[in-house]
Amino acid sequence: MAFDQRFLDELTARSDIVDVVGSYVSLARRGAEYWGCCPFHSEKTPSFHVRPDQQMYYCFGCKKGGGVINFTMEIENLSYPDAVRFLARRAGMTVPEENIDDGASHLRARLFALNRDAARFYYDQLHSPEGAPVAEYLRSRKISPRNATNFGLGAAGAAWDTLTNAMLARGYTQSELVAAGLSVKGKNGGFYDKFRSRLIFPIIDVRGDVLGFGGRIISKDDPGAKYMNTPETVIYSKRRVLYGLNLAKKSKRPGILLVEGNIDVVMLHQAGFDNACASMGTALTQEQLHLLSRYTKEIILCYDNDEAGKAATQKALALLDNTDFSVRVLELPRRLVDGQYVKQDADDFIKYQGADAFENLLTGSESGMDFRMAQLKSRFDLTNDRGRIAYAAAAAELLADVSGAVEREVYTVRAAEAAGIGADTLKQDVARLSSRKARKERREQEKHDLRPAAAAQPRERSMRYDNPRSALAEEGLLRLLVLDESLFGAEPPLAQEEFSSSLLGRLFAALWAQRASGGVRPAALDGQFDASELGHLTALLQKPESTEHESRRRALADYLRVVRDEGAKHAAEDPLAAAMKKFAKSTQDRDGGSTNGN
Ligand code: UTP
Ligand code: MN
Repeated sequence: MAFDQRFLDELTARSDIVDVVGSYVSLARRGAEYWGCCPFHSEKTPSFHVRPDQQMYYCFGCKKGGGVINFTMEIENLSYPDAVRFLARRAGMTVPEENIDDGASHLRARLFALNRDAARFYYDQLHSPEGAPVAEYLRSRKISPRNATNFGLGAAGAAWDTLTNAMLARGYTQSELVAAGLSVKGKNGGFYDKFRSRLIFPIIDVRGDVLGFGGRIISKDDPGAKYMNTPETVIYSKRRVLYGLNLAKKSKRPGILLVEGNIDVVMLHQAGFDNACASMGTALTQEQLHLLSRYTKEIILCYDNDEAGKAATQKALALLDNTDFSVRVLELPRRLVDGQYVKQDADDFIKYQGADAFENLLTGSESGMDFRMAQLKSRFDLTNDRGRIAYAAAAAELLADVSGAVEREVYTVRAAEAAGIGADTLKQDVARLSSRKARKERREQEKHDLRPAAAAQPRERSMRYDNPRSALAEEGLLRLLVLDESLFGAEPPLAQEEFSSSLLGRLFAALWAQRASGGVRPAALDGQFDASELGHLTALLQKPESTEHESRRRALADYLRVVRDEGAKHAAEDPLAAAMKKFAKSTQDRDGGSTNGN
């Protein structure tokens, strides 16, 4: 491990997990544990808990778990050394001289600095003669100079390597420029600018760091895609940012307006709707919701009014189901141009109808359920009986999923009216469907609970057990080692290779090594295992084990016997047969993987 162990021990001792987690999540005490809603996935009922005795956290919903350092890595999106430094600052400790190989976080720091300098450079370009065509383009789009500055907009000139040369002159290296996605290596070995002749949108995160850039062409005839964005880099991941959230998070308006495009965000802010941000043309992600949950409880979806926009709205609504957010959908009307209706986005709407009209739309925007019901209705021909019957059946399906009684009642009555049938008839259908769904869910849960081996399987395919019987006993060994290391002798009872699960073998070896140097501390494995691996360890440590010394000793002997038995069985197997079995299993896994879309 890179940091001095004594320092890490003191750091974790001074960073009580209940305090640290409690500063992000509101925790309620239940017995010896603390419970709260998981910060890593959206949920309404708590499945996340913290155990002060083990100094570990675990979520039964998303299966994340680990110690305080791992928690900090996850929640602050930091590398291991950065999380250690973060906690050290919090605990008022100085990090001992780090002569550690910390290439990754060094590169991150360099890219942050480089992006900041590049953003400044593009900004200066916009205000120089080279930027004149982009400045002209901004005027044509009615973006005011003041608002352009608010967003830090810039210009990339037409030349091939202006930015690359300017940044090299500032001491950045070619490989840093490529790692930032700002320069591209050409066929002849030279480096040239990725963004040329484009309006530049710096993509800034909620901390104010420039993570990357978006660039728009300034004339229809320009080559390349309309928008070009920074590719995934060590500091930029499009799943994790929302364009404009750095400004929208400070808005006094209620809720956050989600739109599709950069220009929509810029224009909405200019028109006073400074709570707008964009997922930049891609589907809304869980990570983005997590980010939003820190700032708002209300989301207003305002995607383009075309098929793609509607599909994106449906997808976002599905993601937002069963979350704490209240959701509304603002549907932009189409605009009549030369006898044809054309789609408009938020920017078009503001330009043609004005800010007041947008404000009206905003106050009148519909709940997510309104939108879904309207979408559903539009798919059926309600002028004939057959269409009405089909519509009623489809509506009943949708209504059966609504959990609030009042909401369900209201929409059922409306749907019945639209279908031209009695409300009571539809209500009966909905009630029947919803209890059938509940029964089905219950049955599935029971079936799941009755399959202990399956239930014990780690969630991630790469960690699945080949031999569940042996693996469950191996889990028991880990549990006993954590609970009472005095049960074990001086030598490990099994070699790492004797574990049927390589993950359990590695975990056991790591815990055993801790035992030799001062005591078993699962929470201190943070640097050596990733979150899903630690989550798995935390989960298996939750399973019951006897509290009494003598029965623990018997359990230990039993576990060892099972592991050795199973090991012997495997060894006795013909090696060719074993290889074939393994092959059959791996193809089966693959097929299973593709059908459920993982
Ligand atoms: P749109 O095509 O709807 O563009 O893409 P827009 O925002 O309305 O832009 P203008 O008004 O034509 O200037 C929506 C968003 O999708 C992303 C961009 O972030 C854009 O703002 N996008 C679009 C890309 O990343 N690449 C593309 O080629 C197009
Ligand atoms: Mn547009």
